[in-house]
Amino acid sequence: MTVDDAIKALSSDILKLVNDNYVLGLGSGRAATALVRYLSSHLKEKNITVKAVPTSLQIKLEAEKCGISIIEADQIEHVDIVFDGADQIDEKRNMIKGGGGALLREKILINVAKKVVIIADESKFVKKLNHSVPIEVHPFARNIAAKQIQKCGGKPLLRTIDRGYPFVTENGNIILDSDFGEILNPEELAEKIIRIPGVIEVGIFTRKPDILYKVKENGKFDVLS
Ligand code: A5P
Repeated sequence: MTVDDAIKALSSDILKLVNDNYVLGLGSGRAATALVRYLSSHLKEKNITVKAVPTSLQIKLEAEKCGISIIEADQIEHVDIVFDGADQIDEKRNMIKGGGGALLREKILINVAKKVVIIADESKFVKKLNHSVPIEVHPFARNIAAKQIQKCGGKPLLRTIDRGYPFVTENGNIILDSDFGEILNPEELAEKIIRIPGVIEVGIFTRKPDILYKVKENGKFDVLS
């Protein structure tokens, strides 16, 4: 049994939440990808039609491959459910997200969704957040914003990909992965950082998930709601 097996098993649980004509928000990353794969085959079997707003090209390609209809964010007026993963989750269900760089679009959808469902393996559950925080920054503000982040107690590091090329988000921005050590007040920190001119979005998510699937290494999962 693997994490993938657990996501396969929980996808039939998740199917019960989805009704015909629902608008789904699809987060990015491994958990969201695995869910899209398994959920799409259940939806086909049950003849349930949905439209999905993808938060990245990565998940858009996956959804298209699975035959899920895509709709763009500017064509919808609501989101019924968002399915997403997380990089870290604290005991109050605050989350750090943005490991794949899709934090801006994920936050936009999570903020308006009627229901937020998060799937994460047990290693990501902690008492207090201490993972580095992805901060999306306009390239013009790279150094200026980095200095302000330092003043807020962070150690910003420009996210790079192969051979040192800067990682550029799908919105044309850079990411400063910023280490704040243990984050005692995630909401306060997120509010401070978002006020820095040039910061586009902060990977601290304080909208609590409605349902959390905690996936275990033995292929089983707990549902926390
Ligand atoms: C994408 O930018 C992220 O917010 C992901 O949701 C997060 O990094 C979790 O990804 P995995 O499901 O791949 O661990």
